[in-house]
Amino acid sequence: MRILFAASEAYPLIKTGGLGDVAGSLPRALLELGQDVRLILPAYATVLGQLEAPRTLAEFSEAGQSVSVVEGQMPESPLKVWLVDAPGYFDRPGNPYLDSNGQPWADNAERFALFSRMVTRLALNQAGLDWAPDIVHCNDWQTGLAPALLDLATQRPATVFTIHNLAYQGLFPEDTFHKLGLPASWWSHHALEFHNQLSFIKGGLVFADRINTVSPTYAREIQTAEFGYGLEGLLRHRSAALSGILNGIDTREWDPASDPLLEHHYDLHDLSGKQANKQVLQSIMGLPDKPVTAVIGLISRLVSQKGIDLIIEAMPDLLKLPLQFSLLGSGDRDMETRLLKLAEQYPQKLAVRIGYDETLAHRIEAGADMYLMPSRFEPCGLNQMYSLHYGTVPIVRNVGGLADTVVDTSAKTLAESRANGFIIDSDDSSALIKAVKRALRRFRDKAQWQQLQLTGMQADFSWQHSARKYLSLYLQAQHDNRKSLPDPG
Ligand code: ADP
Ligand code: GLC
Repeated sequence: MRILFAASEAYPLIKTGGLGDVAGSLPRALLELGQDVRLILPAYATVLGQLEAPRTLAEFSEAGQSVSVVEGQMPESPLKVWLVDAPGYFDRPGNPYLDSNGQPWADNAERFALFSRMVTRLALNQAGLDWAPDIVHCNDWQTGLAPALLDLATQRPATVFTIHNLAYQGLFPEDTFHKLGLPASWWSHHALEFHNQLSFIKGGLVFADRINTVSPTYAREIQTAEFGYGLEGLLRHRSAALSGILNGIDTREWDPASDPLLEHHYDLHDLSGKQANKQVLQSIMGLPDKPVTAVIGLISRLVSQKGIDLIIEAMPDLLKLPLQFSLLGSGDRDMETRLLKLAEQYPQKLAVRIGYDETLAHRIEAGADMYLMPSRFEPCGLNQMYSLHYGTVPIVRNVGGLADTVVDTSAKTLAESRANGFIIDSDDSSALIKAVKRALRRFRDKAQWQQLQLTGMQADFSWQHSARKYLSLYLQAQHDNRKSLPDPG
């Protein structure tokens, strides 16, 4: 199959969260299954320079703009990448979505509408390239207009839209809808209108042949009012076309036996390197060198989704327990300040780093004993899977992909060799404290703890299975496509 995979970020070129991990690894896994894949991204300032062998593939004029598409090679990978480059749109410093004050760029609607238009033109083979996709796979609201625009064509490739996070919908005022020159009939709740606003994500949810999200549990949750953000009715209406496929992890990047960002390697046959990584972590975080004290790690966007406010609330009580914290994150300014203040008050037990640091993220996964993820909702979550793979026992809420990957520790699940972590059973700080205490009690029993670690490390979260499921999804999308292209044969 020829697959055009469209996303607004992809590791290692550009990453702000899990979407970057997925868009960096799923296309490659599909390539390894023998598919013909192109990854298409906006040409952010830092991205162009990283591509190997870049060349201009096509030039367009779009909405009075000259736009070029540059083709290059993903660093150290056979994957072909297309970058959409339009002067003034993407070549600016900093984050793909936010300005230096942490506010969304004022022209995000124009930027990602242009990106989606270019995805559409390339998908319809309007660049005169000798390559037309069978499948256009779009991800999150930034690509949401593409399935809608493609549906205007009399014939088109099949479309798949993946929801990585329903909380981000790409909502803009009505006048943006008019400014973008979208078909007037789309100003309807049957199309892109959402409570008098323009919704980019509805382009994907209404028009894609197939919709999926990144875990089976989240696929069910978003059809309820609690997790659906007002879109649950539409998602229920489309439930026959909606499914959940758990993300994989890229074991080229995330494997304690070979991770190039670690000083000490280890695997499930010999965990001694993990202890050495713990010592490194305590040292770089400025925590006392205490080999037998449990270290709890966290790497996160600091937002309410991730339950960071619950951690802050619980912290004074948690810090009375025999443990240390190594936290890395950035996001909400108030949460950043409160965490830093707590770290100042309790320097022996709590170390906080604000910012984005890929190396430190790997060192926390390897050096911590436990990983805390009290998310209120979690479409999939990658860090609990990295943690399981690194023998770092996760303590998580039972939502979304966390519920699909973490099995709570009890006498029963231990006896069945299924236990691999701890579940926080409700959305409050006392439940969080209770789960941490349960984990600490088990931590004292070294043999039992090692059983939890090994159960996690033995699980296979590699992309192979999930990439195969995407192939089946693509076939279903082709089957459902009412406007399919004529069979070339
Ligand atoms: P989300 O996409 O909702 O942020 P995920 O668990 O799917 O959550 O993925 C988050 C990814 O971003 C992980 O690879 C994690 O290690 C990484 N990450 C998050 N914050 C930071 C940070 N401050 N520094 C380095 N990596 C980070
Ligand atoms: C989103 C979700 C996260 C998921 C990631 C990749 O950012 O918040 O749960 O793992 O996308 O799919």
